[in-house]
Amino acid sequence: MAKQSDSRMWGGRFQEQTDEFVEAFTASVDFDQRLALVDIQGSLAHARMLQHVGVLSADELAQIEQGLGQIEQEVQAGSFNWSVKLEDVHMNVEARLTSLIGDAGKKLHTGRSRNDQIATDIRLYLREQIGVCQQYIRHFQQGLLDLAEQHAETILPGFTHLQVAQPITFGHHMLAWFEMLERDHGRLADCAKRANIMPLGAAALAGTSYPLDREYSAKLLDFTAPSRNSLDAVSDRDFAIEFCAAAAICMTHLSRMAEELVIWSSAQFNFIELPDRYCTGSSIMPQKKNPDVPELVRGKTGRVNGHLVSLLTLMKSQTLAYNKDNQEDKEPLFDTIDTLVGSLRAFADMVPNLTVNAEAMYQAARQGFSTATDLADYLVNKGLPFRDAHEVVGNAVAYAIEQGKDLSDCGLDELQQFHASIEQDVFEVLTLEGSVNARDILGGTAPAQVRKQIAQCRQLIA
Ligand code: ARG
Repeated sequence: MAKQSDSRMWGGRFQEQTDEFVEAFTASVDFDQRLALVDIQGSLAHARMLQHVGVLSADELAQIEQGLGQIEQEVQAGSFNWSVKLEDVHMNVEARLTSLIGDAGKKLHTGRSRNDQIATDIRLYLREQIGVCQQYIRHFQQGLLDLAEQHAETILPGFTHLQVAQPITFGHHMLAWFEMLERDHGRLADCAKRANIMPLGAAALAGTSYPLDREYSAKLLDFTAPSRNSLDAVSDRDFAIEFCAAAAICMTHLSRMAEELVIWSSAQFNFIELPDRYCTGSSIMPQKKNPDVPELVRGKTGRVNGHLVSLLTLMKSQTLAYNKDNQEDKEPLFDTIDTLVGSLRAFADMVPNLTVNAEAMYQAARQGFSTATDLADYLVNKGLPFRDAHEVVGNAVAYAIEQGKDLSDCGLDELQQFHASIEQDVFEVLTLEGSVNARDILGGTAPAQVRKQIAQCRQLIA
């Protein structure tokens, strides 16, 4: 007995309708509709290539181009009617195309499968979004360089173990953040390179019997090359894993900056003030100005790390070639993109606009014997072996702690108790300015070095 025609594109071999729950459970259109524009872009290139090799006529191509153009407008206007019954973005677009232009629409899927189609779409989308992340990173770096320039001479304590260690310049600290972001930028660029290979033409898994010109469509879509192996092309999502790894590292960097911003903006430190527009108040405590944005970014790092583990686990043990498991790649990937883009966007504007409280930084650096190493170096210059100098300064610090004052507040006679070679010029060494200026070595904290590094960094990102 002949069956009635089936609204499902693959309904031909089925005797029974899909269970409604299963239909909703297996559908991806709720989240993959964000790929609509790249899906159309991929379809246009595929259609143009099909016409180029003679599978489609010029007239059919013209109809497809016109139909896809209209769909693109509908998607952009938000008037496209998405249907869960049509499962995913690909079948929604294709069904609409056929309803608009008839038979020519049904020919679009010639020599193609949703397997190579989705693998192509994600790459197109990710490539574009990596570009967005990179732009925000550059913008952020630019702001850090400007801030570093303004504060090449501003002194604050440098910490190890969150204990005052040695005085550093605020510009130097900002340049450390710049370097972290520079490596993030490089990781994203590297990931984009490997993602930029075109699966289209791999079809379901084995390639296709149509004489497709894959070089031609790759060129149209600005891919570096068509993939060499069809099984691998439809199956692996390592490029998405790579992106999530790069994103997790970048978020980890942002979380470290966030932690410092939170600490620095506390009343106890009072090193900086964040712009009001990035903070909120408390509904009960009128005095509060909370560093919400850094805290949120610190928290969001957790979800991005989680997405990386999700994708690794999704891919683990998957046999070749395409498995429906891979439909689960999208939500973690999209949320990673949104989280990273949002966090970078916030930091790129917030950090360069923070207010520096140079006086509080300076006073904090004066505490905690931050120039003790300089006194040891001074003694080494006078001929003591470093280990002995270390010991002498240790004794002097113990004495100063007992007296409740800093080394620079001790008189010459007090310091001379610890070593006879200490002379009046020691006080230059014990000042914070003397300490940072002395570190005038490649990569060091001296204002002169910081200015050199800023100039180099500016060239790097120009
Ligand atoms: N929605 C699917 C995905 O995201 C598209 C590919 C489906 N292919 C298939 N044979 N069911 O992976």
